[in-house]
Amino acid sequence: MKILAIESSCDETACALVEDGRTVISSVVATQIDEHKLYGGVVPEIASRRHCENIVGVCDEALKQARLELSQCDAVAVTYAPGLIGALLVGVNFAKSLALAANIPLIPVHHIKGHIAANYIAHSELEPPYLCLVASGGHSHIIKVKDYTEFETIGKTLDDAAGEAFDKAARSMGFPYPGGIHVDKASKLGDDKRYKLPIPKTENPYDFSFSGLKTAVINLVHNAEQKGEEINVNDLAAAFQHTVCGILTSKFIKAALDNGYKTIALAGGVAANSGLRNALTEQAKLHGMKLYIPPVSLCGDNAAMIGSQAYYEYLAGNIADSSLNAVASLKL
Ligand code: KG4
Ligand code: ZN
Repeated sequence: MKILAIESSCDETACALVEDGRTVISSVVATQIDEHKLYGGVVPEIASRRHCENIVGVCDEALKQARLELSQCDAVAVTYAPGLIGALLVGVNFAKSLALAANIPLIPVHHIKGHIAANYIAHSELEPPYLCLVASGGHSHIIKVKDYTEFETIGKTLDDAAGEAFDKAARSMGFPYPGGIHVDKASKLGDDKRYKLPIPKTENPYDFSFSGLKTAVINLVHNAEQKGEEINVNDLAAAFQHTVCGILTSKFIKAALDNGYKTIALAGGVAANSGLRNALTEQAKLHGMKLYIPPVSLCGDNAAMIGSQAYYEYLAGNIADSSLNAVASLKL
């Protein structure tokens, strides 16, 4: 089954052709980062406009690279939630039109479920059940993946998402948006022990809280500026990354141990972080767990992951009609 999938929930306009949930025939991503960078973060109005401008070309290119016509596709899938409402609406309405024009089913996909499914593309042997840590710009969740379309969230962030904390801390260190990757690079040159950062406590051991940590970095930079002291950005980046990755890893591994999971997976934009990949790989090995991580190319927003999850949504009978609407925030 060939699915044409569309993703437009934030600042990437993406389209992919995916066969039977596991094989990517083509995948095209048009990123708007360079423009949002000027403003230090995503400007929703600009994002919606750029999606409108880009979506036809991106879908044409994905079909061209796959050497397919729309009439050869078996279904259209689209991210309908969660995300920036104006951005989501562009993808949803475009997908509806395609499905109607080609007279094929329309499959609605939850963005976070898509991130999780990126692992199915990379690891053909991976099947539920397993425990997944999703860390992105908008979410930090520990999720029981009971089946392809059955999920239970057992831990989540109480304030900032991990990626959001990376980006805001990065900004105070002088890095451009999105700062996660810059902190990752700088941390490789730094000493993670020079600056001490707080480890937040949460009532539920599987929940996260990153806003205090982010504020601690901002205050540290601010105080140094006021005293005319130099901050060693590489050391601060290393300390921040070490702390965030330590929190994500220890809570996730505890959740896996407590709940008897031997198979675990990582997903979301922050899954690209080298410190997190290394820490989890080490801990999984130590505890005899099989860990799945998508390649960096599938960690950030893309439409291939949406096409993968869409296949399983289709098998479960989750088909939408033309009344499908975009939803800005929606639980799994
Ligand atoms: O999943 P994603 O592409 O978009 C959302 O659904 O939010 O995640 C984007 C987030 C951004 O906060 C970005 O800074 C972060 O992922 N990110 C990273 C790295 N690469 C991307 N954070 C830390 N280290 C990285 N290497
Ligand atoms: Zn995402």
